[in-house]
Amino acid sequence: MSRRSWATQLIGFNRLPFGAKRVDLLAELMANEGFMRFSPGVYSYKQTAAFLEKILAWQNRGLPSQFAVLSRADNRLIGYCGFFHQEVDGTNEIEIGYRLHPNYWNKGLATEAAQAVRDHAFRDLNLSRVISLIHPKNAASRRVAEKIRMQFEHKTVFKGFPALVFMISRERWLTNRAA
Ligand SMILES: CC(C)(COP(=O)(O)OP(=O)(O)OC[C@H]1O[C@@H](n2cnc3c(N)ncnc32)[C@H](O)[C@@H]1OP(=O)(O)O)[C@@H](O)C(=O)NCCC(=O)NCCS
Repeated sequence: MSRRSWATQLIGFNRLPFGAKRVDLLAELMANEGFMRFSPGVYSYKQTAAFLEKILAWQNRGLPSQFAVLSRADNRLIGYCGFFHQEVDGTNEIEIGYRLHPNYWNKGLATEAAQAVRDHAFRDLNLSRVISLIHPKNAASRRVAEKIRMQFEHKTVFKGFPALVFMISRERWLTNRAA
């Protein structure tokens, strides 16, 4: 799931060329306060390993999962973008989630990655809808959701935090493509 012309590439975490260093590199990102902004806090190495294990378990079961975002210039791991499986207001939802290292913000990279993941959801996985859960004060994340044509659906409380649910349906994606 990569397109040559991009500044970044997306790759399944189980296909990363870094081998055993995968946890180390992700742990470095998840220890960064900017990277973990609008989350309960930075992750320890142990928390990162558990997070990566969850992602790999989804991937190994063939479920939609996260992609590593690599900088094309130097193949560096700069973040992740992909699918999380969440229960929101009693309903099972597939969320598109993304985080990038602050050095790479405001270059259009999250939008580029989220757009590819959204297209993958509808074109290849045939999902009926995908959402994003966004903290009301997270203007950058909200803007990314809007740029990939998600629309505000409702407010909720997710894991104890206020969240806005943004959503795009397969129908809306198809209509936009045809327009
Ligand atoms: C959210 C995040 C992934 C965005 O990544 P990014 O690569 O900078 O996103 P893009 O460059 O594709 O788009 C960002 C947009 O938000 C806008 N933006 C950035 N900061 C903003 C702010 N404080 N207020 C309003 N808009 C803002 C940018 O101008 C841009 O919009 P534009 O293209 O219309 O100018 C990145 O900020 C991040 O990793 N944040 C920490 C983790 C996080 O919050 N993840 C989302 C959890 S829901």
